[in-house]
Formats: sequence, structure tokens, C-alpha cells
Amino acid sequence: MTGFLGTRAGVFSDLLLVSLLVLVPAFTTGYFLARRHKGAWHRLAMLISYSFVLIFVIIYIIHNLVEGFPPFRGDRFSNYNIIYLIIGLTHSLLAIAALIMGGRQIYLGNKFSSSKSNWTMRAEDRIVHARFGVKTLIIFVSTTITGILLYFWVFVAGTVK
Ligand code: HEM
Repeated sequence: MTGFLGTRAGVFSDLLLVSLLVLVPAFTTGYFLARRHKGAWHRLAMLISYSFVLIFVIIYIIHNLVEGFPPFRGDRFSNYNIIYLIIGLTHSLLAIAALIMGGRQIYLGNKFSSSKSNWTMRAEDRIVHARFGVKTLIIFVSTTITGILLYFWVFVAGTVK
């Protein structure tokens, strides 16, 4: 079944692309809540966003196992296939790193928060959580960008040469 974005992609791939785009404002909101010292809201925003990523990845893997990955095109070493592999592998590795780093960040957030009613941290713990948090967010954004690139390469741009 063709998707709703008017490309060669199916409904499922279109839904995944839209979900990826929704995640960027969700994590950005979580970040700015932390900067404004709204620990409880920050926690809620990050837990919802991270759970959404987890569900998203699980559905994505099941979808690909059932329907198969988008096939190679042309010769084994065609430009299309090489670029598809480079973007696809980079995206997959980033997605795995994002899941692991996000999980660790949630663990650290829970562990360091001294008050569980308004979720505050001691200054030195905050530095550790914030430093790793910024790296985690960069990996989340890179995962999104490579996901969008992959979608465009496979369903919009990529032709066999
Ligand atoms: C993927 C998950 C998470 C990411 C990426 C993340 C990221 C961050 C970042 C970047 C900061 C510092 C912001 C700044 O520079 O001012 C921060 C602060 C903070 N985070 Fe997280 N965080 C996550 C999850 C959590 C969770 C689950 C909790 C609580 C259980 C938590 C509790 C806090 C608290 C209390 C602060 C300090 C807020 C304040 O200054 O009052 N974080 N987080």
C-alpha cells in the first residue's frame, strides 16, 4: 500500500519518518525544561520520548523482519547499493548508541535525583548528568538526520548507476 507522503514509500515507512520528526521537538522540549530547572517535567518529557523511541525501534525491527529490508538495486557494487549500505549502517549504529545512552541517562537521572518529589540534583551530579545528556541528545539528533537521509535515498532520490 502506498504511503501518504506521495513518495515510493509505503504507509509504514511514511509513519516512521513522521515519528522521527516528532521526536526532535519532544527531546528539545525535555532539554529546555532541564535548563529551566523543571526537573519533574524534564523527567516526564524524557521518559515519554525515550519510551516512544523504544516502541518505535521494536515496531521497526518487527516490520523489517516480516516484510524484509528495502532490496539492493542493480549490481552488487552499484552506487545506489554502496550509499544505501553506508547510510543504513551508520543509522543503525547511531540508533543502537542512542538507545544505550538514553537508557544510561535515565538511570543516572533517577540515581542522582536527591528529591523524588521535584527531581532536583546536587550540583556535581548535575554536571555528570548534563554532560552525558548533551552527548546523548547529539546522538539522538544524528540518528534522526541519518534516518531522514535513508528515507530520501531509498524512496525519493536513489537510482541505479
Ligand atoms: C534520555 C534521557 C535524558 C536526557 C537526554 C537528559 C538530559 C539532561 C540534560 C542535558 C540536562 C542539563 C541541562 C542543562 O544543561 O542545563 C539534564 C538535567 C537534569 N536531568 Fe536529565 N536527561 C534525561 C533523563 C532524565 C531523567 C529520567 C531524570 C530523572 C529521573 C532526569 C533528571 C534531571 C534533573 C533533576 C536535572 C537537573 C535539572 C535542574 O537543574 O534543576 N533526567 N538532563
